[in-house]
Amino acid sequence: MNKKVLVTGGTGYIGSHTVVELQNEGFEVYIIDNLSNSDINVLDGITGITGKRPAFEKIDLCDHEKVKAFFSHNPGIESIIHFAAYKAVGESVEKPVLYYHNNLVSLLNLLTCMKDFNIPSLVFSSSCTVYGQPDELPVSEDAPIQEAVSPYGNTKQIGEEIIRDTIHSCEQLKAVSLRYFNPIGAHPSSYIGELPIGIPENLVPYITQTAAGIRDELRVFGDDYDTPDGSCIRDYLHVVDLAQAHVVALKRLLEKRNKGNYEIFNLGTGRGVSVFEAIESFERVSGKKLRYRVVDRRPGDIEKIWANPALANNEMRWSTKYSLDDAMKSAWDWELSYRKNK
Ligand code: WQD
Repeated sequence: MNKKVLVTGGTGYIGSHTVVELQNEGFEVYIIDNLSNSDINVLDGITGITGKRPAFEKIDLCDHEKVKAFFSHNPGIESIIHFAAYKAVGESVEKPVLYYHNNLVSLLNLLTCMKDFNIPSLVFSSSCTVYGQPDELPVSEDAPIQEAVSPYGNTKQIGEEIIRDTIHSCEQLKAVSLRYFNPIGAHPSSYIGELPIGIPENLVPYITQTAAGIRDELRVFGDDYDTPDGSCIRDYLHVVDLAQAHVVALKRLLEKRNKGNYEIFNLGTGRGVSVFEAIESFERVSGKKLRYRVVDRRPGDIEKIWANPALANNEMRWSTKYSLDDAMKSAWDWELSYRKNK
C-alpha cells in the first residue's frame, strides 16, 4: 500500500488530529495549509505526540500554479485527504463570494491536479449540514439533501456534487465524502486541540472558554424547541474518533475495498445530546459550575439532528469509542493546558 498522503488543512482542528492518527498507522504525511485559520506551532504538537514531524508547505490551494508545483516536486503521493476550507457559518452569510471562491476553487484545483498527476484517491470533509432539518431521525445517508441554510453549507453540498461528477467522468478516480456531525474534544495528550480565532461560534469551545474566565457566560440559544428539555439536540463525537475514521476510509480506498467509486458515510455516535446535557457533562467532568443564560434562538439553527451511523459501522467497521464525558474532559484539559503554556 502506498503510504504517502497529502493532508490539506493539516494544521487545522480536525486535520491535525487526523495527521496524528495517520502517522500512528505508518503513513508518510505531507501537509499543505495556508495558515489562514491555524497556527504553525500545531506542527510541534503533532511531533510531540508522534515523534515524527510531517512535511509541511504553506500554500494557498487557490493558487493553481503553486499546487501544481507541489505535486511536481513531491512525486509518489497517491491519496489526498482534503480538509482545507473556510468554515464559519455566520461569516459565510456576510461574505458568500469569499466562501464560494475559497472552498470551491481549492477543490477544483485539487481535482485538476489529481487527474494531471494520476492521484487516484480522495477523502473529502463534508458535513451533516447537507441534511438541513431532516424529516426522519436518526438521519441516514440516503435522506434527501435540503437547500443549504448558509453559503458555507452550500459549499459542502456543491463540493460533493463536483466530486461525484468528476468521479463519474474518470474511471481512475475514487472518493469518499465523510459527513461529520459535531466534532468536539482534543487529543488526550493535550498537545493539540481546537484553537478558535476570536470569539468561538461553537458550543464546546465557548463552554471551556467561559469556564476558563475568558468569556462571561455561555448564552444558550433557545429553550423552547420541541425537544425533551427545550434546547437543541446534536450528535457530538470525539475528534479522535473522527480522525480515526479518516484513516479507515483512506485504507478502504487504498486497499480497493470500496464498493463503487464514490461513497458517502455519516460520522457520528448515533446519539442525540441537548445543549443542557452537554453543559451537565462539562460540569461533571470539570467539577466546575458553568455560568450560562438562556437567550433567543440563534437564526439558522436546526432543532435536532443525530446520525444513523450504521453504514460506517457495518461497511467501514468504524464506530465511536469515546463518550461525551471523555470528549468534554479532553476539551477542558486542552483549554487548561493551552492557557498555561501560552
Ligand atoms: C451546537 C448547539 C447551538 C453556541 C456546527 C458547525 C457547522 C456544521 C455542523 C460542519 C446548537 C448551541 C452554540 C453557543 C449555544 N459542521 N449553542 N450557545 O450549529 O450544530 O454547527 O456543526 O460542517 O458548520 O458550525 O454547532 O457548536 O455552533 O452549536 O447554545 O454559544 O449549541 O444553538 O444547538 P452547529 P454549534
